[in-house]
Amino acid sequence: MASLTVRKLDDEIKAALKLRAARSGRSVEDEVRVILREAAETPAQRPAAPEPMESVPRNQRLRPAENGRPRVTLIIGGGIAAYKALDLIRRLKDRGCHVGCVMTRAAQQFVTPLTASALADEPCYTDLFDSRSEFDAGHIRLARDSDMIVVAPATADLMAKMAQGHADDLATAILLATNRPVLIAPAMNPMMWTNSATRRNVAQLERDGIAFIGPNSGEMAEAGEAGVGRMAEPAEIAARADAILRPPQARILSGIRVLVTAGPTHEPIDPVRYIANRSSGKQGFAIAAAAARAGADVTLISGPVDLDDPANVHIIHVESARDMLDNVQKALPVDVAVFAAAVADWRVANAGAQKIKKTQGSLPQLELTENPDILATVSKLTVNRPKLVIGFAAETENLIANARSKLARKGCDWIVANDVSPGSGVMGGDRNTVHLITRDDPPDHAPDVWPVMTKEDVAATLVARIAGAVKKDVSRS
Ligand code: C5P
Repeated sequence: MASLTVRKLDDEIKAALKLRAARSGRSVEDEVRVILREAAETPAQRPAAPEPMESVPRNQRLRPAENGRPRVTLIIGGGIAAYKALDLIRRLKDRGCHVGCVMTRAAQQFVTPLTASALADEPCYTDLFDSRSEFDAGHIRLARDSDMIVVAPATADLMAKMAQGHADDLATAILLATNRPVLIAPAMNPMMWTNSATRRNVAQLERDGIAFIGPNSGEMAEAGEAGVGRMAEPAEIAARADAILRPPQARILSGIRVLVTAGPTHEPIDPVRYIANRSSGKQGFAIAAAAARAGADVTLISGPVDLDDPANVHIIHVESARDMLDNVQKALPVDVAVFAAAVADWRVANAGAQKIKKTQGSLPQLELTENPDILATVSKLTVNRPKLVIGFAAETENLIANARSKLARKGCDWIVANDVSPGSGVMGGDRNTVHLITRDDPPDHAPDVWPVMTKEDVAATLVARIAGAVKKDVSRS
């Protein structure tokens, strides 16, 4: 298809599309192609329709997560704490969840659906009679197509409607139609929380199997008021949602020590200048987070990045390649090492101890020297070599051939090859196109090509592959 023309898009969708394209570093037209490709692939990947409800308790009615990445429908109620729900979207995504939002009419007085759409993984739904969400009884689909529903903030009114089984808007219709675990984060004035009507509703909702987080005590939005009624913090809600979504039996890397390197390295020219590269660190962070969620004991050694530290990971921040190698060596022994850092190939041999002055008519003579190759060093260890050493190969041309020769040269076990050619949007973007090449592949073996995925999905898929390999190894020994 040479070109795409899509007419009659409403302004909100156009704006959300532009944002999504900008975030992934693609043109709008390319973004639409990606969306169409995803949509075409989705039906085959989606699991079959959910089982009938029967009398299984809510918290056991979990559907297997897609690609290891659970879908969360976040219902945002109309309270002043709605702004915190935006942070919650990010926190759930950091924990590897795919997040879709639904906003009540009142919530839209506090935050806009466009903001929620831009932060979440799909457009925000607002209306029970919206042709977008209701083309196939969308409230049923939204209710069942997610692995769990989180309501934050849950207002007194929304909780009353849930307790009574109302379904007069999209949020309540989803809550009535779902057979998935529901976690609610109440937020209201302390008098409303202690009111006997709310107490009755809370008791009813608890009997119905709804999980609660908070409310916490503290200052209220209303001047001079304090007490129990503040919404739980987004980090607490995300952690609780994670615990519900990923019961201990999902911890496929439990007891396994994993080391991950991530991000760029900064090689000093003098105390204020450095050589670096464009790595964002997102892929390495996603792998560390996915391994930790799978129960591994994870050490992440990261160069300078602009990312929050992942939960339940031991993180060491370093600057240069030599610091990184030093800390990698200290972190050994481990069972699995994943080298996702984009280590600078060279450093300045004659780096200035003081700031190099600009002198007219002469340029500083920088002498470069090669940095240690951390992946090759660890791969070639005879003592303490991890059982599985995985490298990354970011290539702009001859992806497979270059990745194969890199695997042989460095002596690692697997190479995750990714296409970072201009236009791929991988560097700094949220998606990755990956091929997995392993040492045991026969030379004529077609590489294992993964579809275009988010970096979280690449991480979850890689973690599942690692778990398979590590288990095989254990059963052999
Ligand atoms: O040689 P190249 O930089 O393309 O190799 C990429 C792989 O090697 C990545 O896994 C990267 O983390 C690792 N590497 C390293 N130390 C270096 C250079 C690359 O660990 N100095």
